Amino acid sequence: MRTFQQVGPLRTYLRGIRAEGKTIGFVPTMGALHDGHKGLIQRAKGDCDLVVTSAYVNPAQFAANEDFDRYPRDMNADQAIASNAGADAFFMPSTDEMYPAGFQTVVDVPDMGAVLEGAHRPTHFRGVVTVVTKLLNIVQPDRIYFGQKDYQQLIIIEHLVRDLNIQSAVILVPTVRESDGLAMSSRNAYLSEQEREAAAILYRALMLADEMVKNGVTSADEVKRDVERLISSEPLASIDYVALINPDTLQEVHSLADGVALVALAVRIGKTRLIDNWFVAPAGIPISKNRLSSQSRAK
Ligand code: PAJ
Repeated sequence: MRTFQQVGPLRTYLRGIRAEGKTIGFVPTMGALHDGHKGLIQRAKGDCDLVVTSAYVNPAQFAANEDFDRYPRDMNADQAIASNAGADAFFMPSTDEMYPAGFQTVVDVPDMGAVLEGAHRPTHFRGVVTVVTKLLNIVQPDRIYFGQKDYQQLIIIEHLVRDLNIQSAVILVPTVRESDGLAMSSRNAYLSEQEREAAAILYRALMLADEMVKNGVTSADEVKRDVERLISSEPLASIDYVALINPDTLQEVHSLADGVALVALAVRIGKTRLIDNWFVAPAGIPISKNRLSSQSRAK
């Protein structure tokens, strides 16, 4: 695997790859790589001739009161994980490289970036969309890969790519989970042992919603109420939001009778904010039309 810290040499390298007619897959990350990231790299490797992974903790997507300073960073471990998963190139730029003096352009998807996560983190998606636009321009991949765990991010990037005529296909990859169902996340490292146990409540809440909808409950309010009640039964958990949304528009839905909806959660376990989501549909309606052929349950 080749490692790059600067845009120029990475571009020169990729120009050569493209000239050979090879396809390029791209997996952007903020590092602290875990099996979820590994799944994205492996999927990209299966689809494309060459895989580029980036690891950059993007200050623009953290608000002043958030965890930018303490976000886990271990570039040596990350390079080993990326290489083992099949990445061919690893891009780890500095902030001077990404945001040199005088930088001022922002890219925003304002409406979809204002709901759910955006309602709690108002400048977050502007930071994500700006850095992903930059990374797309640098790498110019045939395909860019995102995890279901950050589903709103995926939808926003799909908009970005469509709206700005960016020539990359956006691919959604299922969430990789721990054995109790907790979605893998770099932020799980913040959890104490007791909090780590309590964090399983998110997946249990998603499974409750899944079961209710499969059993014929069609009222989104009813599902939301029971999910909130279950999460509130965990003393270490406090809810930021529970939402049942249309997976294409991200708008809240009221009836679950006629299609696929997404249950999206943001829950604080102690001081750590975790998100997760799950497609739900009445028995007999496949979720496959919603970008994924299956979702991954806890093993
Ligand atoms: P990060 O949180 O590092 O996530 C990088 C990618 O890994 C995202 O597409 C995310 O959805 C995916 N991912 C994280 N946990 C996962 C899991 N358990 N299963 C499957 N995929 C998972 O998302 C970001 O970084 C940043 O916002 C970024 C897009 C890199 C822009 O800075």
